[in-house]
Amino acid sequence: MQEKFDLILQSAKSELESISNSKDLFDLKTKYLGKNGEITALLRGMKDLSPQERSSFGKLVNDLKTAVDALFVQKEQALKEKELEERFSKEAIDITLPGDKPKIGSLHPLNIVKNKILNAFMGMGFEVFEGPEIESDYYCFQALNIPKDHPARDMQDTFYITDNLLLRPHTSPGQVRTMEKKQPPIKILSPGRVYRADDDASHSPMFHQIEGLVVDKGVSLCDLKGLLDEFVRVIFDEDTKTRFRPSYFPFTEPSVEVDVTCCKCHGKGCSLCKGTGWIEILGAGIVNKKVLEMSGIDSDVYSGLAFGLGIERITMIKYGISDIRTLFENNVNFLKQFNRR
Ligand code: PHE
Repeated sequence: MQEKFDLILQSAKSELESISNSKDLFDLKTKYLGKNGEITALLRGMKDLSPQERSSFGKLVNDLKTAVDALFVQKEQALKEKELEERFSKEAIDITLPGDKPKIGSLHPLNIVKNKILNAFMGMGFEVFEGPEIESDYYCFQALNIPKDHPARDMQDTFYITDNLLLRPHTSPGQVRTMEKKQPPIKILSPGRVYRADDDASHSPMFHQIEGLVVDKGVSLCDLKGLLDEFVRVIFDEDTKTRFRPSYFPFTEPSVEVDVTCCKCHGKGCSLCKGTGWIEILGAGIVNKKVLEMSGIDSDVYSGLAFGLGIERITMIKYGISDIRTLFENNVNFLKQFNRR
């Protein structure tokens, strides 16, 4: 009897050795210890034995059952550990890998520069007034003393919608709209989109300007120079200098073109400033008396200064951008460069 039981134990042992997953282990356990299992059958057969046989047989079967049970528990434990280890290695994550950084957008360079310009002037007490992009001939030209035969009125320069309505070619109508509504002292900036039939590396059919207007008693070219000196120091370097060159605009008299010392070579002469050491940044002047009068301001009491600058132009000079079109292509690799501040 003992030998037979030893054989059962041996075969359970060797069968267990070849088991490598929980499912096979369960099947094997059923084979020995399940309802119809080999050992269960032995236990069940005890009822047919005589009482004497039963006690010695019972002890042997119980020992066998305990031994086989223990084998299964051991195997179960080993399998669980093995399966856990396998799962760990399969599902392992490398916590030393750097995480995916969320991509954060940034302001467009034109907005960065526009904000800088607005801030520089707002610090000097200017308010912002935004006029319409579709304007009338009166606000764009007549009220600004631009005569009927002026080239700006040509279809080739200005986008007309009707004979009287057009896409504003500059932000100067903002001056007129402000002066019509408000008596001096006036100190405003009028930023916005403007449109001209022009398209090459330094001109875009749509671009942005900021108009500045100051009207008060005794406003002079000195005030203009002081304002612009302060402005260029905020936008470019501390040591940037300005110079006025005589020019002509129908709405200012006298008119000037304003240059700054080249921000790349600081006045020595380089490719950016074409060897001159100076770069033109804006047009300005003392508001023409006729313009003040047309908008209902007494030109014997008040005088004004005005300036108009292109945001693209200042941005290109500041960042050394050679083609205006790159500002409108929305190439993320290009735009990303202005992210750090
Ligand atoms: N409106 C002019 C332009 O677009 C700029 C300007 C504004 C010049 C105000 C003088 C005074 O070129």
